[in-house]
Amino acid sequence: MPIVPMREMLADALKENYAVGYFESWDQCSLEAVLEAAEDSRSPVILGFGGASVNMEWFDKRGLYLLASLGRTATEDSKVPVSLMLNEVPFMEQIRRGIALGFNAVMLDTSHLPIEKNIRFTKQAVNIAHSAGADAEGECGRLPDASGSGINHAGSATDPEEAARYAEETGIDALAVSAGNVHIDMNGKNRIDTALLSKIREKVHIPLVLHGGTSIAEEDIPEVIRLGVAKFNVGTVLKEIFLTTIIELGPSADDGKVQQIVGSRKRCDMFETAKNRIKAEVMRRMILYGSTGKA
Ligand code: 13P
Repeated sequence: MPIVPMREMLADALKENYAVGYFESWDQCSLEAVLEAAEDSRSPVILGFGGASVNMEWFDKRGLYLLASLGRTATEDSKVPVSLMLNEVPFMEQIRRGIALGFNAVMLDTSHLPIEKNIRFTKQAVNIAHSAGADAEGECGRLPDASGSGINHAGSATDPEEAARYAEETGIDALAVSAGNVHIDMNGKNRIDTALLSKIREKVHIPLVLHGGTSIAEEDIPEVIRLGVAKFNVGTVLKEIFLTTIIELGPSADDGKVQQIVGSRKRCDMFETAKNRIKAEVMRRMILYGSTGKA
């Protein structure tokens, strides 16, 4: 199935009152898990990779190229509509290269900058994306970040007026907001400030995005979708599942089974088990987001 523009996928979701997941992959195992979950769920999905926590030397030298090749192959092979996103990269050059390598949705990570600079750099990224037929997401306001011990920085909630100006002046296709959601948090059930979200919605009519999908309180999901959220970004929970599986199954590689446990793709392969567990979590979330059966 051909790759689909993210803006079309999100417009359909808004119209039909569901949301699409961007499930952030980091390698072939995680990418296959997301793609298989989407196919088995008959769900549209946003595949892709992020730049927020990767080693930039590796990423710029070979990583971006290899990940893009994997992503492109997955989109060509897909049985359901997919977009391919390059998420939260810090440099404009990576936006340019990513689009040239086949990503059809991008996000430059500039939400930490003062609003004027955030607008200026986002607008540049939008121009690069749109001139190549790709879509761009931007973020106004900043999510708190819970990586490490405790919340590393408090973030700042999205201001509705500022968000309206940001969306208007940059021309972004989707707006990520900070309204109670927290990045990289496994512990909490973070409640979304729906009063704030509805004020943002009164002023911004493009699809809204909630990052920090791992820890958003599940009971809030139907209401935030009703208020215009058409995309959830989910990352940490997938890595957590991967890691706990490898910790659980890794030690049995010691008793002479290494060829079976690593890379055989049989049921005893720990990466295959990790893939299937990630896939199950993605399928569970597709039901929550309402995208199951929409492809
Ligand atoms: P989590 O890792 O908290 O799920 O957030 C992912 C994300 O927002 C990627 O952009």
